[in-house]
Amino acid sequence: MPLDHAPRTSHQTPRHDAPLVVTADPALRDELLRLAAAAGVTPEVVADPGGALRSWARAPVVLVGGDLAGRLAELGPDRRDGVHVIAWGATDTALFRAGLGLGAENVAELPRSEGWVVETLTDLGEAARPRGLVVGVVGGSGGAGATTLACSLGQVAAQTGETVVIDCDPLGPGLDRVLGLDRHDGFRWDALCQTTGRLSARALREALPRRGRLGVLTWYAGTTATLQAFAVREALSAARRGHDTVVVDLPRTPDPLLDEVVARCDLVLVATVATVAGVASAARVCARHDGRADLGLVLRGGGLLAHEVSRAAGTPVLGAVPHQRALDESIDLGLGPVRNPRSPLARACADLLALLAAPGAARRVAA
Ligand SMILES: Nc1ncnc2c1ncn2[C@@H]1O[C@H](COP(=O)(O)OP(=O)(O)OP(=O)(O)O)[C@@H](O)[C@H]1O
Ligand SMILES: [Mg+2]
Repeated sequence: MPLDHAPRTSHQTPRHDAPLVVTADPALRDELLRLAAAAGVTPEVVADPGGALRSWARAPVVLVGGDLAGRLAELGPDRRDGVHVIAWGATDTALFRAGLGLGAENVAELPRSEGWVVETLTDLGEAARPRGLVVGVVGGSGGAGATTLACSLGQVAAQTGETVVIDCDPLGPGLDRVLGLDRHDGFRWDALCQTTGRLSARALREALPRRGRLGVLTWYAGTTATLQAFAVREALSAARRGHDTVVVDLPRTPDPLLDEVVARCDLVLVATVATVAGVASAARVCARHDGRADLGLVLRGGGLLAHEVSRAAGTPVLGAVPHQRALDESIDLGLGPVRNPRSPLARACADLLALLAAPGAARRVAA
């Protein structure tokens, strides 16, 4: 079987993050290299059990071929996490005994476990990436501009890094529609809520409707929009591992699952209309989420001074979004709220993102 790239052999200096493959079976080696290439990682391949011990403790994951599992177990390597025995075809009792001796997490058969091997190695590649920033956006009052702010932040963040906007508002317009991605194929919540099991960061990123570096997770139009705790946890976790920025559009309705989502956000922006009534309402929203996440207000409209609003709501004002002319037209045309990357709205979002990228932003502004 042709190889996508040359294997790294034991005489080369291995990278510290390279998974270790221990096998002397050329067919198994080539197959594991093919799966590793699909996952975007290059393993170190060792064909003798003694040589495997040198990289044993250092490798983030060890895939031990069924051909060498017994001999390696006899050498009694130290117990460690992330050891898997991989064999061709059906496994037998001797192989399970060897797996036990190695402290392996499982004994997997190829080709049946191909998908699992790729997922395991993919997440390894993703682990090297710094975890993404998760920003929640909630309206301080109805129609305050939360959805518009979430989508605008997503569009601007996607200019510089992998970004996903996650729709958690079952009664909203559907963020694919707001961003002009409603005709794009890809995973929606509808399908994710049917799946079980671990979601790899790359699988989610590649499955979502996307334009350039901007992806969206929402529901199909016309379906009953519901969220399931399992799907939400998996999606948020995979989104954070696979993107630089994750923006979540949160509804205002109280819901324990959404409280959990808020708690997973690094920071929650409360879109606030800068009027006395708008601030009073935003103060209630802040009180509900107080202690669950760092909070910051984003003002819309210029009726009040930022420091007065901060004091009244007990939450720092992190920025303001200007009124964007022809916003609805831009959305209707499928261009999203940020039609022009140099518009005042785009600049306001870029300023907010720069502020949020600094850790502890809300607390610092509050001080
Ligand atoms: N920065 C802005 N400039 C101009 N219009 C805006 C701006 N932000 C929001 N709007 C308009 O305000 C209306 C409500 O916006 P949006 O749907 O974003 O609010 P929301 O807080 O998400 O509302 P809901 O409470 O329904 O979730 C929309 O018609 C939108 O076009
Ligand atoms: Mg909304």
